[in-house]
Amino acid sequence: MRISVIGCGYVGLVTGACFAEIGHHVACTDDDESKIAILRSGKLPIYEPHLDVLVEKNVREGRLLFVNNPGEAVRSSEAVFICVGTPPLENGDADLSAIDNVARMIATEGGGAKLVVEKSTVPAQTGQELKRALTVYSRKSGSNFTVASNPEFLREGTAVTDFLHPDRIVIGVDDDTAAKKLREIYAPILERKFKCPAHQDKCPAAAAPVFVSTTVNSAELIKHASNSFLALKISFANALADMCDQLGADVQEVTAAVGMDPRIGPQFLQAGLGFGGFCLPKDVQAFIRLAERVGIDFTLLKAAEQVNRQRIELLLAKARKALWVLKGKKIALLGLAFKPNTDDIRFSPAIEAAKRFIAEGASLRAFDPQAMEKTRKALPQISLAKNPYEAVKDVDAVVIATEWDEFRKLDWKRVYNEMARPLVIDARNSLNPAEMKSLGFEYYSFGR
Ligand code: UGA
Repeated sequence: MRISVIGCGYVGLVTGACFAEIGHHVACTDDDESKIAILRSGKLPIYEPHLDVLVEKNVREGRLLFVNNPGEAVRSSEAVFICVGTPPLENGDADLSAIDNVARMIATEGGGAKLVVEKSTVPAQTGQELKRALTVYSRKSGSNFTVASNPEFLREGTAVTDFLHPDRIVIGVDDDTAAKKLREIYAPILERKFKCPAHQDKCPAAAAPVFVSTTVNSAELIKHASNSFLALKISFANALADMCDQLGADVQEVTAAVGMDPRIGPQFLQAGLGFGGFCLPKDVQAFIRLAERVGIDFTLLKAAEQVNRQRIELLLAKARKALWVLKGKKIALLGLAFKPNTDDIRFSPAIEAAKRFIAEGASLRAFDPQAMEKTRKALPQISLAKNPYEAVKDVDAVVIATEWDEFRKLDWKRVYNEMARPLVIDARNSLNPAEMKSLGFEYYSFGR
């Protein structure tokens, strides 16, 4: 099928490349021309495992195209996937202006009957506004559009695998034709009829995804509810970690056993510096705002947000307790990305921590395996080391803010010898406390 994807961020690029991989002809576009220029030069504007291989292969084989002119992309396609950003406004609402702009573009450039699919995360009832906007904007061209919702559940860092091996594909539709077309688009994934580029021959034999068809409103709500529930789980684990700190228990032992109950599940119970990134924080905020708009005070989610905000304070408090005065202390920050296996620093707890240490007068040197370039551009005030060993040289403390595997695998004996004072604050609970102590470190983590 001929598909266009509007927006070449994490979701748009992965969607475009994966649709091409399963056999569709995809035109991707973005109003940021520099992004398209990077993509056309054979590079990627983001780091995401497996994506480079997928993009290169599908461009070479002629199924994937990056175009500057959105009209060109839309006109030649049967289905348009909107993957533009919905960042938070000052008051926490989702900023839907990019969706509105795309609606205007599709309506004026579109031509013919089209299926318009929202993949961007949007509050419930956006679909009906989008439908209204398309009707108003196409008043003169007389085009006819169907709006569907198809929320995306991929995670950065495992996006390609998540897209090609989802546990569920949710579509929100108001008519059968849209449902039929979306099922057709996803057929290779539903029937698992493709060779997985992420795993080659060692592809995990996951169960086929469930195809869930709902109304547009429900599909929109499913996405916000999913991210909000994940945030709740993380904040629960973090509050539990604080209890463990006071009561002398180990939060990892507790969550491991709690998570064995299939009604609870083991995932998203990792305590530490809290949730960040471009999705969970903004989606929780937008869900709270949506609830307020319809007269509901979602206190449960507000509490999850509050627990999350306190994580940075808690880290600073731990650092002050261990180092006494922070002003003038040399600190190595390991990790800048909001989580491992990505270069994304948007709403990263690690970046927030870096800013706070700098504000307190500490002398900070940071290292991240992938997020250095983005940090250099966005936050030139953060001093960066060439490698983790350079970062830790002569420092008074190491703070682990992102649990990259690289940090687990460091030669910690060497780190011990490089540091002025062998003090580690592991804000992601990523190392083994007993091993660190046996190496001679003064070691702190959360809830252990
Ligand atoms: C999240 C959701 O997991 C995806 O399903 C969703 O599609 C995506 O948002 C989106 O809406 O686009 P993502 O933002 O890539 O994915 O990151 P997560 O893996 O969810 O992690 C979010 C944050 O929570 C990170 O800062 C991570 O370090 C933190 N986290 C996660 C914890 O602190 N503890 C955990 O147990 C898990």
